[in-house]
Amino acid sequence: MRKADLVVGVQWGDEGKGKIVDMLGLNYDMICRSQGGHNAGHTIWVDGVRYAMHLIPSGILHKNIVNVIGNGVVVSPDVLIDEMAQFDHLEGRFYISDRAHLNLTHHGLIDQAKERLKGDKAIGTTGKGIGPTYADKISRSGHRVGELLEPERLCEALMSDFEMNKSLFNALGVKIPNHDELLEELKRYKEALAPYITNTTRLVWKALDDGKKVLLEGAQGTLLDIDHGTYPYVTSSNTISAGACTGLGLNPKEIGEVIGVIKAYTTRVGFGPFPTEDKGSDGDKMCEIGKEFGTTTGRRRRCGWFDAVSVKYASRLDAVDKYALMKLDVLDGFEVVKICKAYQYNGETIDYVPTDLENVTPIYEDLEGWDSVKGVTRYDDLPKNAKRYIERIEELTSVKVGLISTSPERSDTIIR
Ligand code: IMP
Repeated sequence: MRKADLVVGVQWGDEGKGKIVDMLGLNYDMICRSQGGHNAGHTIWVDGVRYAMHLIPSGILHKNIVNVIGNGVVVSPDVLIDEMAQFDHLEGRFYISDRAHLNLTHHGLIDQAKERLKGDKAIGTTGKGIGPTYADKISRSGHRVGELLEPERLCEALMSDFEMNKSLFNALGVKIPNHDELLEELKRYKEALAPYITNTTRLVWKALDDGKKVLLEGAQGTLLDIDHGTYPYVTSSNTISAGACTGLGLNPKEIGEVIGVIKAYTTRVGFGPFPTEDKGSDGDKMCEIGKEFGTTTGRRRRCGWFDAVSVKYASRLDAVDKYALMKLDVLDGFEVVKICKAYQYNGETIDYVPTDLENVTPIYEDLEGWDSVKGVTRYDDLPKNAKRYIERIEELTSVKVGLISTSPERSDTIIR
């Protein structure tokens, strides 16, 4: 039986999944997104042209790869239509699930208003309406992409939802959309998207049944999972491997190799616990050298040392077979590199992730740094201390590192 391989982020997102999917994707016939929305984002440069991608899988850059947005994704038609405009001839190589939920303008406005009102309790969301869209879905009052095929009916349904939630809109200071403008908008969405809307579960099943190679592209990271992440400082979807099953209609036995993407250090955007955060010069250096600013919001990412405890926990949740270790070159020139190998928690030393992660103190192991790994493409050519660092990550997490990225260039990658 053909299985679908999966690329999943094992930290708090921004691990560098884009480069891995771009690299590995060339070997696949189909690439699928299964969760999240345009809170995700990466930039890909091809022949000097910049492509900003938030929703469409990066396989779209290759004519022979079919790209799928699965039912678990929340889709902003506006963002999607803008993104589609970057590419020609999408027919036959791009599909959107009729069951994916619609992320509309009011969702973003509600997200931003709630964040403002929460003050110092804010999550630090991307403000893209991801939480409100998933909230509508879970409370069974959301609307799906397939409903765009009947804009009049969808418009009436939405107007009646707005009427029912009038007090919420007023309390948040969000204007209720105007009927006629909304209808025009929905008709425009239908015109642009209708040819691509389909039952993507059947499409992916058929691809697997026909022996095609399918790659699943995770968004965000495991520690942002709505159930297993650092709640409430999480995103609103299941970012763990299992999210790829529910978000596409695959059964667990149809998942093949799981490639866990980890960064050689740790970053996090938005608020929430981050035990190994370094607020001093080391964190600043990682941020500057690693260009740690969000693709979607431009926000500066918080930076810190590699946390083997949370990565081990996440790897178990994801069933990671091997790691892709990204941005090793960002640690070039550090005299000492640290790995968090355990936590101090309630007076004890622990090696697991407690529910109240904000109450742990990291216990570090110091390792000697190295001069430079930049551009190295063979494992044997890595400096001794860089190898030691990689091997220590493997020992502490019990997962092998199969791929090492030594610069943003696609070719600067070690395959072990
Ligand atoms: P939301 O997904 O916009 O609701 O944001 C919830 C949390 O997830 C915030 O801390 C965001 O910064 C974080 N987040 C959402 N998407 C991404 C991503 O693609 N990379 C990294 N962090 C993300």
